[in-house]
Amino acid sequence: MNLDELKALKATSAAEAKAAADAAALEAVRVKYLGRNGLLPELTQGIKDVPAGERREFGRLVNELKNELQALIEVRRQEMQQTVGAVAQAAFDYTLPGQWRGLGSKHPVSQIIERTIDIFHAMGFTVADGPDIETEYYNFDALNTPSDHPSRDTQDTFYLKTGELLRTQTSPVQIRVMEKQKPPVRIIAPGRCYRRDTTDATHSASFHQIEGLYVDRQVSMADLKGDLTYFAHQLMGPGVKVRFRPHFFPFTEPSVEYDFSCHVCGGKGCRVCKQSGWIEISGAGMVNPKVFNKVGYDPETVTGYAFGMGVERIAMIRYGIHDIRLLYDNDKRFLDKIGG
Ligand code: PHE
Repeated sequence: MNLDELKALKATSAAEAKAAADAAALEAVRVKYLGRNGLLPELTQGIKDVPAGERREFGRLVNELKNELQALIEVRRQEMQQTVGAVAQAAFDYTLPGQWRGLGSKHPVSQIIERTIDIFHAMGFTVADGPDIETEYYNFDALNTPSDHPSRDTQDTFYLKTGELLRTQTSPVQIRVMEKQKPPVRIIAPGRCYRRDTTDATHSASFHQIEGLYVDRQVSMADLKGDLTYFAHQLMGPGVKVRFRPHFFPFTEPSVEYDFSCHVCGGKGCRVCKQSGWIEISGAGMVNPKVFNKVGYDPETVTGYAFGMGVERIAMIRYGIHDIRLLYDNDKRFLDKIGG
C-alpha cells in the first residue's frame, strides 16, 4: 500500500464509522480496522517493508489513522447511547396513571367493634380478650349455667373431641378477667362466638359478640341502662331509643334483653325490624352473686352489671343490611359500598 492508498483508506474508514447505524455496525467497523486481525495491525506490521524514503511518513500516517479512527468510533458510541436514552425517555410518559392496586376497606363488623371500643374507652373501659376454644367450666359452669341447660346441648354447641368447646358467647371472658383482677373492673371483650345454627338471613354458625362488664361498689341497674343508652346514642345517633325487657340468664339477676329502636324505619315498622319497630341487640343484667362467689369476689361489697351485644345485628341495622350472609360472602363490591 502506498501513501495515497493509505490516505484513501483513512477517508473510507472514517466514512464507514460515521455511517454505522447502530452499535453492532460500529463494532464491525472497529473489528475490521482496529481488531487484532484488522487492517491497521496488518499495516503496522508492513511498515518495515515500505521503501526507506517513505517509511517515516507511512508510519506516521498509519498511527494517525489509528488514533483518529479510535477517537471517532468512541464519539459515535457515545452519540448512540445518548440517542437510545433520549428515545427511552420520550417513550416514558410521566403523565400516565400508575398501576392502581385497589385499597381495601374496613369490614362492617370490624367498624362496629372499633367504634364500640372507642365509645366505651371514653367511659373508662379497657379491652379484654379470651380464647375461641373454651372449657365447659368457663363457658357454662362458672357462669352458673345448670348442667341440664338447653344451651349445653350438642345441638346448640360445637364440642371438640378433647371435651373443650367453641365458645357460644363472650361471657366466659368475664370469668377469666375477674379471676385475674380484683375489683373495680371495667372491660369490654369483642370476639367470635359459635353456635350450631343453620345459616339463614339472620343466623350464622359463627358470629361476633362484644361483652361488657362493670364491677365496683354500688353499681346499679340504673348504670346499666344509662351506659347502654349513652352507647346507643353515640353509635346510632341521638334519636335511637333503647328498650329493656325482663329476661333470664343464669349469670345475671335480674336479667334483661335490650332492643334498639329500628334505625332503618325510625321505629315505624319495616322489613328489617319485622314490622315491630325494635331490633333485639342482646342480653344484659346485674352479675349474679353466685358468679362473684365462683371468682372469689365478695357479693356483699361489690355489685356489677354485664351485657352482651350481637355485632352483626348492630352492623345490619347500622348499615341497613337485610341478610347476615352478605357480611361473610366477602364480595368486594358489597364491602366497598359500606367500607370505612
Ligand atoms: N351471653 C349472653 C348471650 O349470648 C348475653 C349476655 C351477656 C347476657 C351478658 C347477660 C349478660 O345471649
